[in-house]
Amino acid sequence: MTLNEAVINRHTVKAFDSGKTLPESQIESLLNVLRNSPSSVNSQPWHFVVASTADGRAAIAKSTTGAFAYNEPKVVNASHVIALCMHTDMDEQHLNNILTQEDQDGRFVAEGSKAGQDKSRRSYVDIHRYELRDMPQWMEKQVYLALGGLLLGAAVLGIDATPMEGFDQRTLDIELGLREQGLTSVVLVSLGVKSDKDFNALLPKSRLPREQIFTFI
Ligand SMILES: Cc1cc2nc3c(=O)[nH]c(=O)nc-3n(C[C@H](O)[C@H](O)[C@H](O)COP(=O)(O)O)c2cc1C
Repeated sequence: MTLNEAVINRHTVKAFDSGKTLPESQIESLLNVLRNSPSSVNSQPWHFVVASTADGRAAIAKSTTGAFAYNEPKVVNASHVIALCMHTDMDEQHLNNILTQEDQDGRFVAEGSKAGQDKSRRSYVDIHRYELRDMPQWMEKQVYLALGGLLLGAAVLGIDATPMEGFDQRTLDIELGLREQGLTSVVLVSLGVKSDKDFNALLPKSRLPREQIFTFI
């Protein structure tokens, strides 16, 4: 599939075929997309909970009740559901963890580059913590970048997907024990095979015209 075909063909799936499971190799490719997603100063302020069993999907579906019940079938009937989560703070442990990993991965060839990278990253962290005071928003932006990659990756592989903000974050956080780990849920993505009840598959795509959204200078 070409990139253009993937972009035109993808749509938000509104109903999945509950009997269909995606091959593990495809899921692994998508996890690879998430893991390699870019982030500001390589901060990687995310964690991904992957539900691949009926029990796992049922746990996530506890957050799709009440006002969010319209999303419940998209969770329970999918093959896999990924909860994209973020850290609640960019703490010392996380900063040291990233630096150690970069070191192990061979990023610090030049003399002093490890200390330089640490200092530079911390200066950005401090800007967001003390000056802009937008630490959660900054971290959440990185998670949304990962979401974009995941949705495009799924489209390129021909995997049906549904991004969902329509769920109760508090319920999901408690159900998955996220807050004890310094994490909170941001957005869900269901992955699977669409069913013939997916009404969105038959509807034309709707986007604002090219002239309205691009300015060429
Ligand atoms: C961050 C985000 C959250 C979304 N939340 C939901 C949701 O909770 N339920 C749903 O059915 N669709 C959800 N959507 C799908 C959008 O409505 C959809 O992407 C948009 O209408 C464009 O249609 P398309 O994805 O089919 O091209 C969400 C999309 C994004 C990007």
